[in-house]
Amino acid sequence: MTIELQLCKDYSKFDHIIILIDKDTSLNTLGLPKGDVTAAQKFFDDKKGSTYLKNAEGKTLNLVRIDTGKEKFKRLEDARKAGYSLNKFLNGQKIKEVSLFNASADAELAAAFTEGLLLSNYQFLKYKTLEKKENSLVTLHVDARSADKTTLDEITKLVDGNFFARTLVNEPLSFLTAEQLGAEIKKAGAKGGFKVEVLNKKKIEALKMGGLLSVNKGSIDPPTFTVLEWKPAKYKNKKPIVLVGKGVVYDTGGLSLKPTPNSMDMMKCDMAGAAAVAGIFKAAAALKLPVHLIGLIPATDNRPGMNAYVPGDVVKMMSGLNVEMLNADAEGRMILADALHYAKQFKPELVIDFATLTGAAVRAIGAVATAYMGTANDDIKKKLEISADHVYERLIHFPLWDEYGDWIKSDVADIKNVGPGEAGHITAGKFLEYFVDYPWLHLDIAGSAYLMKEDNYRGKYGTAVGVRMIIDFLRNY
Ligand code: BES
Ligand code: MN
Ligand code: ZN
Repeated sequence: MTIELQLCKDYSKFDHIIILIDKDTSLNTLGLPKGDVTAAQKFFDDKKGSTYLKNAEGKTLNLVRIDTGKEKFKRLEDARKAGYSLNKFLNGQKIKEVSLFNASADAELAAAFTEGLLLSNYQFLKYKTLEKKENSLVTLHVDARSADKTTLDEITKLVDGNFFARTLVNEPLSFLTAEQLGAEIKKAGAKGGFKVEVLNKKKIEALKMGGLLSVNKGSIDPPTFTVLEWKPAKYKNKKPIVLVGKGVVYDTGGLSLKPTPNSMDMMKCDMAGAAAVAGIFKAAAALKLPVHLIGLIPATDNRPGMNAYVPGDVVKMMSGLNVEMLNADAEGRMILADALHYAKQFKPELVIDFATLTGAAVRAIGAVATAYMGTANDDIKKKLEISADHVYERLIHFPLWDEYGDWIKSDVADIKNVGPGEAGHITAGKFLEYFVDYPWLHLDIAGSAYLMKEDNYRGKYGTAVGVRMIIDFLRNY
């Protein structure tokens, strides 16, 4: 659940207190009893971390040391991680409210710590009926000397967008079909003030979205194509920025069926790109970011039903290009291709797609980062990388060299939907490149979108990767 943030005049009146310090903070200035100062000083001699004290009034003080001196983005990440540790500790103690004061020299640490603490409070308990272990923490009182109201509101809105994306990812197919995904986004749009239109199968057929329809053939549930728009009265970009998200609500692999353990069993996450786009819109609208955004979400499950597309089929895509489909498990690029083609009508300034696209990306870089590539200029790439570092959702660039393009040429049709195996994340990118005519970035989040074990404030399962990165990018756009 979201922890409520409140600004307070004096952190010291609360029973549970968090104080951020660095190696230069003089513990004498914190109004601690003498004994505590000595104990704390001893604890922090040359080491980071946090210590927990009780002062003479019986109040608990959590002193959290975050080292200065490192690069800024690493320091911010340290602060978020410290927020995670404190979240665990305070929930473990069943504490409901706590105050925060930043006594370190870096004014930005309070916000980063707060963000980490809030992000760590995420829970997905919808399907728990026996044991619902809800977090106790509900309020964080931030001292007015450590942050302002605007900053706190912004953190709350960002965290809301992040939680929305995580919950969409964590919802199983038994609830979140393509239609339900559209409905959830529509609800969020109505509440959040952004436009959402969900195109149904009829409309998708009329648009001749051959890629999306071919993947959907093996399914009994219809596909959807959701179009989002955030257009504030004033915006900075001349032409829209389009965000595209892969919405495979479940990926069995189709007739190229996946094995279950460590593979198909986690494939409810295959709409994490769609979830990221939805989360970005929720946050961008709440923050009233002055940018004109369009979102495109092609959605279906990928199943080996009676009429499933078969390896060897030739699919006419919305763009008119013919694709020889040789692996039903390379379905993400089939549905993204139509969305990328659809984006052309907006004459976009920039298109960014988010997709849990390839196991190759996972093998190359693991969950540590997102593999990305694209045709946008170096200046845009640099800006996005700076945002990625700043929020610590890091990016690694891969090249779209022509040689890789040769690997997906088809003897039968124009191109085929799989390459030879090596560099699968790049051949997937080359495939998508056939459908763009604008500056474009492709983010393969297959590794970073879904974690099988808890990673700090990122949590376990859906991570909402992309939401914090793109909101930061748009803020600085
Ligand atoms: N959804 C998968 C990719 C994936 C793998 C996402 C692991 C998250 C974690 C995608 O649709 C897929 O199956 N890709 C295939 C492509 C191959 C057949 C060319 C892959 O990477 O194995
Ligand atoms: Mn697949
Ligand atoms: Zn997939």
